[in-house]
Amino acid sequence: MLSITILAIESSCDETSAAVCVDGKILSNHIAGQKVHEQYGGVVPELASRAHMQNIVPVVNVALSTAQTQLAAVDAIAFTQAPGLIGSLLVGTQFAKSLSLALNKPLIAVHHMQAHVLANLIEAPGPEFPFLCLTVSGGHTQIVLARAPDDLEVIGATIDDAAGEAFDKTAKLLHLPYPGGPLIDKYAKQGDATRFKFAEPQIPGLNFSFSGLKTSVLYFLQKEIAANPQFIEQNLADLCASVQHTIVNVLMKKLQKAVQQTGIHNVCIAGGVSANSSLRNTLTAYGKKHDWKTFIPPFQYCTDNAGMIAITAYYKYLKSDFATLEVSPAARATW
Ligand code: KG4
Ligand code: ZN
Repeated sequence: MLSITILAIESSCDETSAAVCVDGKILSNHIAGQKVHEQYGGVVPELASRAHMQNIVPVVNVALSTAQTQLAAVDAIAFTQAPGLIGSLLVGTQFAKSLSLALNKPLIAVHHMQAHVLANLIEAPGPEFPFLCLTVSGGHTQIVLARAPDDLEVIGATIDDAAGEAFDKTAKLLHLPYPGGPLIDKYAKQGDATRFKFAEPQIPGLNFSFSGLKTSVLYFLQKEIAANPQFIEQNLADLCASVQHTIVNVLMKKLQKAVQQTGIHNVCIAGGVSANSSLRNTLTAYGKKHDWKTFIPPFQYCTDNAGMIAITAYYKYLKSDFATLEVSPAARATW
C-alpha cells in the first residue's frame, strides 16, 4: 500500500507550527512561540500576523528536515482554516494554498477545535469511538461527543469566557504576566486550594460560564487589598491554588454530567488548559475511581500545534475531503 505523507500548518493564534505525518504517525511537530506579546498582556493580532510571516518558512523547513522528508514526497498540504485571528489564519492559508498550487497536491482545510479533539488519536492507545472530549483553550470551552473522526458534536459550550480566559484574566488580577494559566498552575503547586472560596456559576445543562469567577476574584481582592496592600504577594500560592481548584471543579462537574447523560465512559481532554496539572491529575484520579477510561494528550499536543492539524487532515485525506483554492479562512466557524 502507498503511504500518505501530509505537511500540516497551524497559525490560528500566536504559535506558528508545522508537522509532518506519515500514515497517521506524527514524524515532526515544530512550534515557534511569539514572545512579542508578553509585554502587552495579551495577543496583539497585527504583531501575531507579522511574526507568522517571519516564522512560517523556517518552521516548515525544520518540520520537514526533522521528519527527513522532502517537499517532493508530500501528498497533501493541510492548514488551519478556522477559527482564530483572521490575520494569523490568512498567513497559514495563503502559504498552504501556494504550496498546494506549486506542488500540484491536494489542500486540506482543518477546523482548529476539531483538531484539538482529535489530538487524542495521535498517541496509541487512543480512545475508542464514541468518546467525550472536554476541549479547554484560550478561546473555547466545549464538551464534544465524538462518534467518528468526521462525526463530532458539540454538546456543551461556554456562554461567555473560556476556561483559559478565566485562568488568564484572574492571573492578570494577581499581577501575573500573559499567558497566566501556566503560572497559576506553577504557583498553585505550593498553595492550599481550600483556603479561599470563590463562587461557582450555576448554569443549567452542559454549558459553562466563567465571567462571574473573574468578578468574584476581583471584588474579593479589592476588599483584601484595602486592608492589606501586600495581600496578593503574601498569599499568591493559596490564591492560585484556590482559583485553579474552582475552575477545575466547574469543568469536572460538567464532564460528570456529560458522562451520566450519554453513558459514554471514554473521556478525553484537549486544548491549552488540558496542560494544567490539577485538571490532568483530577481527571485521572476520578477516572480510576469511577471506571472511566481517560485520555490526555502529551503536552506538545495540548497547546496549539500542527501535529493535531496533521492527524485530522489524515482522516480527511482517507475520505478525500479536500478543499479548493477558493477556500478562505474564517475567524469564527461552527461545524
Ligand atoms: O489551545 P491553546 O494553546 O490556544 C487557543 O487555541 O486558545 O490554549 C491557550 C490557553 C491559554 O489561556 C493558557 O493560559 C492556557 O491555555 N494554558 C493553561 C496551562 N497551559 C496553557 N492554563 C492552565 N494551566 C496550564 N498549565
Ligand atoms: Zn487552540
